[in-house]
Amino acid sequence: MGKHIVVIPGDGIGREVTDAAVEILKKTDEIYHLDFTYEWKDAGGTAYDKYGVPLPEETVNACRKGDGILFGAVGGDQWDHLEPSLRPEKAILGLRKSLGLYVNLRPVKIQDSMIEYSPLKPEIARGTDIMIVRELVGGIYFGKRCESEINDGVERAWDVESYSVPEVERITRFAMEAARKRHGHVTSVDKSNVLASSRLWRRTAVRVHDEEYPDIQLDHMYVDNCAQQFAIHPSFFDVVVTSNMFGDILSDEAAVLSGSIGMLPSASIGKETSLYEPIHGSAPDIAGKGIANPIATILSAAMMLRYSFNEDRAADAIEKAVNQTLEDGYRTGDIYREGMKKVDGEGMTEAILQNLH
Ligand code: NAD
Ligand code: IPM
Ligand code: MN
Repeated sequence: MGKHIVVIPGDGIGREVTDAAVEILKKTDEIYHLDFTYEWKDAGGTAYDKYGVPLPEETVNACRKGDGILFGAVGGDQWDHLEPSLRPEKAILGLRKSLGLYVNLRPVKIQDSMIEYSPLKPEIARGTDIMIVRELVGGIYFGKRCESEINDGVERAWDVESYSVPEVERITRFAMEAARKRHGHVTSVDKSNVLASSRLWRRTAVRVHDEEYPDIQLDHMYVDNCAQQFAIHPSFFDVVVTSNMFGDILSDEAAVLSGSIGMLPSASIGKETSLYEPIHGSAPDIAGKGIANPIATILSAAMMLRYSFNEDRAADAIEKAVNQTLEDGYRTGDIYREGMKKVDGEGMTEAILQNLH
């Protein structure tokens, strides 16, 4: 039976990178007979300009009906002055929340052929293969907040970080299951030396582990230490499970270990539907120039095939084509070095298509 894919380009480079990923999906469909259909929907600043809201109801409804969602990026300076509920970022936050996408998988793997592009020394970078499991619908992102209150003439704003036991249980279980299919090692990252929500996080992770996953090696790390361990000993990690906020920050750091944020895909997984998006944003500084690296979005499409459609063979084919293209020396500006074949986004996509069998 065919699959219906909802494509949400969003803003900035979102259009060009989702166009690239759809081209790859179409060729994959031709080769593996997957019978995909597509539907394009608006979100972000682009939707605000058209409809006055960043996340039209119609977009959410289409996502609910789709078999998979491919998302580009949202945001841009021209919308930064809007009140918080109308900002483009509200679109992706609203989709995550309303679709119940509680897990965000962000895999960071440094290929041997890309080792010299890592900002780390090769001997440190080699062997890095981390699966970040970020909690995506709780924590400070969705806690109570106040934009401004004035007491005794002093203005203050606040955001509350909170986690419930069931929220931590389900994300911990997801991380443990992921580790069973990988190297059996989970590092839970928190700030339990300071935060109450982190203390609940840690003791819940320990209990879930002891009761249900004694076969997995579980260790704990404070987030500040984790940030430096990523830079000095990244190959220590297998699965990293952490809160929404810590996961956001750590995944940008981890992304760049592999050379460029333009290469890191992600899957946001819920019980009914899942959304696939690059971890980078709308990159206003390079938007419209055609030079964005499409690889993160193309690999996100591969994750869709793997996690939503159980089409491992087709997903493997896309990942292989990307690796081959990098080995062939094709480079967008963000990963360019002298002597390599410099291409724009379309050139990179074309080279990947050629390697896709
Ligand atoms: P960004 O990820 O958009 O850009 C950071 C830097 O990385 C920029 O120099 C950019 O040119 C570069 N970069 C990003 N993707 C690239 C690609 N595919 N190829 C080559 N270079 C790439 O982050 P930012 O500048 O902090 O944010 C810009 C806007 O995007 C903001 O409005 C922010 O809120 C939004 N944002 C959206 C998402 C999302 O939609 N999921 C994620 C992050 C940021
Ligand atoms: C990401 C982004 C989003 C986040 C923003 C755009 C709301 O940075 O997907 O990493 O903070 O989750
Ligand atoms: Mn982020």
